[in-house]
Amino acid sequence: MDISWTGYATLAAILAPAFLFLVIYIRGINYRRKAPMANLDHVRMEGKTVIITGASAGIGKETARDLARKGARLILGCRNIPKATKVAEDIRNTTGNEDVHVRQLDTSSLASVRKFANEILAEEKRIDVLILNAGIAGLDDRNLTADGLECTMATNHFGHFLLTNILLGLIKKSRPSRIVVVASTALTTNLRIDMRVDNLNFEKGGFWSFKSYAQSKSCNVLFTRRLADLTRGEGVVVNSLDPGLVHTEIFDKSGGLMVGKVVRLGVPFAGRTEVQGAQTVVYVAASEEGGSTTGKYFEECKISSTADGLLNDEELAKQVWEASERLVGLQPNEKHY
Ligand SMILES: NC(=O)c1ccc[n+]([C@@H]2O[C@H](COP(=O)([O-])OP(=O)(O)OC[C@H]3O[C@@H](n4cnc5c(N)ncnc54)[C@H](OP(=O)(O)O)[C@@H]3O)[C@@H](O)[C@H]2O)c1
Repeated sequence: MDISWTGYATLAAILAPAFLFLVIYIRGINYRRKAPMANLDHVRMEGKTVIITGASAGIGKETARDLARKGARLILGCRNIPKATKVAEDIRNTTGNEDVHVRQLDTSSLASVRKFANEILAEEKRIDVLILNAGIAGLDDRNLTADGLECTMATNHFGHFLLTNILLGLIKKSRPSRIVVVASTALTTNLRIDMRVDNLNFEKGGFWSFKSYAQSKSCNVLFTRRLADLTRGEGVVVNSLDPGLVHTEIFDKSGGLMVGKVVRLGVPFAGRTEVQGAQTVVYVAASEEGGSTTGKYFEECKISSTADGLLNDEELAKQVWEASERLVGLQPNEKHY
């Protein structure tokens, strides 16, 4: 039988996606099988207060559940109160820990961050662990918040920068204490982005969806470096981490770019579960190693050198810190370093 070149082309067009899917599927099985567990069942956290941003879904929700199981007092800083209330109820029911509370926090709004932080300072006696987890990815356009900040940068970096600064005094008083920053390896270090400190907010152009996410996550790592320098020797440790590729809502909420659609199709097969994705966060928040080291980056429940290029850049970390202070309008009474 003679097959024309168009016949071969049609066959290839059918088989290539099927082959790609098979590769993703098999790699996904292997990736989930190799997922490390924090293995911290012996660690108890009664008497400790943990604040976690963005705990109404995904990695944050499962991190909160794990730490609630250890007996910690949990404060979930979330933007969608009905959704977060259901999650908190589910966490209380599944762990038996009644000390799980929801508070309104929109990390993309400086006013909301200030309100949340000042309520915490007025009502809480201590903060043992602050977990900066809330995040969005893949917006198609440069949307601005009410504060004039680019939305991805505001949600993932600027809001957390302001929140940490306002809470830092109480965090220091609660020592030994920890700040845990959920960053990302995939785009931060694998895709070398050309980050301009004078254009963090993309006023001078250069915005595209993956770049804003990658830049926000690079800022998470640079923030970790600078804050670790500013708090060294004061009983506060700050570390960042990559949770791995995790099948969460973040991909459904991201923009409609073609690449985003392809990623969204593949993640259910290629990614880890939310519980698996929470393991490195829990490890950094609760393990002895996570409490005895500062300014480091963790992957797969261990210290990693993947982000060293950023972590070792003291000058860039300083510049990003100073630019962030200006952009959030950090007030003298909000500085605790
Ligand atoms: N999934 C991955 O493969 C992956 C990989 C590397 C890093 N990460 C990082 O992991 C973190 C958690 O992401 P995820 O994958 O668990 O995604 P997710 O399931 O979408 O959860 C994100 C959480 O952040 C909250 N959030 C978003 N914008 C917020 C805002 N303005 N104010 C307050 N909360 C806000 C969401 O609230 P709503 O429920 O209201 O939407 C949700 O609770 C993010 O920082 C992300 O960059 C994820």
